[in-house]
Amino acid sequence: MWNDRFAGEAFVYGTAPAAFLTREAGRLPAGARVLSVAEGEGRNAVWLAGQGCAVTAVEGAPNAVAKARRLAAARGVTVDFRLCDLRDWPWEADAHDAAIGIFIQFGPRDVQDRMMAGMKRTVRPGGLVLLHGFAPRQVGYGTGGPPHAEWMYTEALLRDRFADFEIRALRDYDAEIDEGTGHRGRAALVDLVARRPAG
Ligand SMILES: C[S@@+](CC[C@H](N)C(=O)[O-])C[C@H]1O[C@@H](n2cnc3c(N)ncnc32)[C@H](O)[C@@H]1O
Repeated sequence: MWNDRFAGEAFVYGTAPAAFLTREAGRLPAGARVLSVAEGEGRNAVWLAGQGCAVTAVEGAPNAVAKARRLAAARGVTVDFRLCDLRDWPWEADAHDAAIGIFIQFGPRDVQDRMMAGMKRTVRPGGLVLLHGFAPRQVGYGTGGPPHAEWMYTEALLRDRFADFEIRALRDYDAEIDEGTGHRGRAALVDLVARRPAG
């Protein structure tokens, strides 16, 4: 299903990074080693690479990875793209300065919990997890995202899942988004920036 969605020439979520990422990227150290989870067609990884980050980007849809590679080449940046189903991703411990997940609510809670646990594990002590996705009321907005309120983020859910991290930012808000044809219009969003304790 995802691969079919990415079959055309157009970039389904556009080629510009998520506003959340450009807002929060200043928290990353210079030259940060970043893992991007479910990167899609490359918009966020390519932008981060342009900022000087060393980005590994995991994505399960071959059509998306092919377009992401073309976008990186067109922008003259290098990204380590990995075509891999996230159910098989090894989540190497302490390997990254940050892990980002932007609109990765593609499965039910247990699937998302495993990914969140993996993201927490793969950042080094003092490293950051950045999550950006939809709040439950998004389901009524019809401007993108899965049609399942129970797959969405709430502040309480993220506080619980990141109870052993330091919450640096957590917000639930509405904003206009204009990200390709996939996300367009008023959206109910949740942002999280959480830091693994330095130990
Ligand atoms: C809503 S899109 C977001 C893409 C990208 N993060 C962005 O913001 O442009 C969700 C992405 O998750 C990917 N995906 C879904 N299930 C996956 C899985 N099991 N393993 C890896 N990627 C998956 C899809 O192919 C798609 O690219």
